[in-house]
Amino acid sequence: MDFFRDRNIPATWLVFTFLLLQGLSVMLFSYVCNSGTTSSPLQPQPAQVPRAPNLTVLLWTWPFGGRFPIEKCSELLGIPNCHITANRLWYPVADAVIVHHFDVCKSPRFLPRRPRPPSQLWIWFNLEPPTYTRNVHLMDNRFNLTMSYRRDSDIFTPYGWLEVLPEPRNVTVPLKTKLVAWVVSKWNPSSLRVRYYQELKKYIHVDVYGYQHSPLPQKKQIKVLSQYKFYLAFENSVHEDYITEKLWKTALLAETVPVVCGPPRKNYELYLPPGSFIHIDDFPTVQGLALFLQELDQNSERYKSYFQWRSWLTPVKTTTWSLHLCRACRALQGNSFRYQTVSALSKWFR
Ligand SMILES: *[C@@H]1O[C@H](CO)[C@@H](O)[C@H](O)[C@H]1NC(C)=O
Ligand SMILES: *[C@@H]1O[C@H](CO)[C@@H](O)[C@H](O)[C@H]1NC(C)=O
Repeated sequence: MDFFRDRNIPATWLVFTFLLLQGLSVMLFSYVCNSGTTSSPLQPQPAQVPRAPNLTVLLWTWPFGGRFPIEKCSELLGIPNCHITANRLWYPVADAVIVHHFDVCKSPRFLPRRPRPPSQLWIWFNLEPPTYTRNVHLMDNRFNLTMSYRRDSDIFTPYGWLEVLPEPRNVTVPLKTKLVAWVVSKWNPSSLRVRYYQELKKYIHVDVYGYQHSPLPQKKQIKVLSQYKFYLAFENSVHEDYITEKLWKTALLAETVPVVCGPPRKNYELYLPPGSFIHIDDFPTVQGLALFLQELDQNSERYKSYFQWRSWLTPVKTTTWSLHLCRACRALQGNSFRYQTVSALSKWFR
């Protein structure tokens, strides 16, 4: 019996079935596209919906030697078919090997020694800035893809980002009883940030926590810092896109207004709305910044304007190693790379 010619089936059902099938294929298609990195909905639709390939991704070392539970990418990013492992027995069949730079940078001897399977991709992974990354030249001509906080990496793994809220919300500014805070771990007297602080403290009081200052246990950090109007989110070195958890976690999750020192304002504005932070470059002098902070302290309406963006955006709560690995798997499934050998890694990453 020819289904579509059967007069007993009312036309509305045919239309309904047709729409249902259409809906399903659209859903499937957009799902597959979303799991890729650069697929555009404008690209011609494939005749058949492709299945994301099953990938084994081997993490060569635990970053900085710290183990963590490897979470499922289906749970973290909603993508199927990613097998992420740190067990080196998988090396001969792994589709990709992620190598965390710090753990192997002493010598190429720490890289996989066995022959590389022909289609296996090696991914150079590093979230540290060039100032604190040694021996990059030893990694030249060995890797196929890069993975870092830099936007121009093959796999972009930033320290944080903003997400759009499903619905706008009313913003409330947490109760503020203190003015400026800074938490510092690496104290390098000749660094820009320490020199800037030494000058700033002549004009405005800054509570300093961390190395050789008041202790601040991780657990209490958000609670303590949220009492401050401003937080000095000063990066340890200045490099394009190097915007770290000092901004994302320490300043923004604690709901204080970040005063940033790092790459230029234009670079920050790729990540944050212009009116959400204060940049030290906004002021020709250090004293100018101090005066501005004191003015904002006296003007609650103006201060509150730095929270306006929070009515429709929110910083991501956490980025984890697992999440970075899953982002790599998603990118590999998207399969949109020009495969290559990254020859001049050390020329690029500096
Ligand atoms: C936000 O504030 C407005 C005005 O005060 C109020 O009408 C509205 O219900 C509030 N919305 C939410 C989500 O609380
Ligand atoms: C990956 O890089 C290696 C080392 O240079 C090279 O031999 C291999 O052909 C590259 N693989 C791909 C798929 O481009």
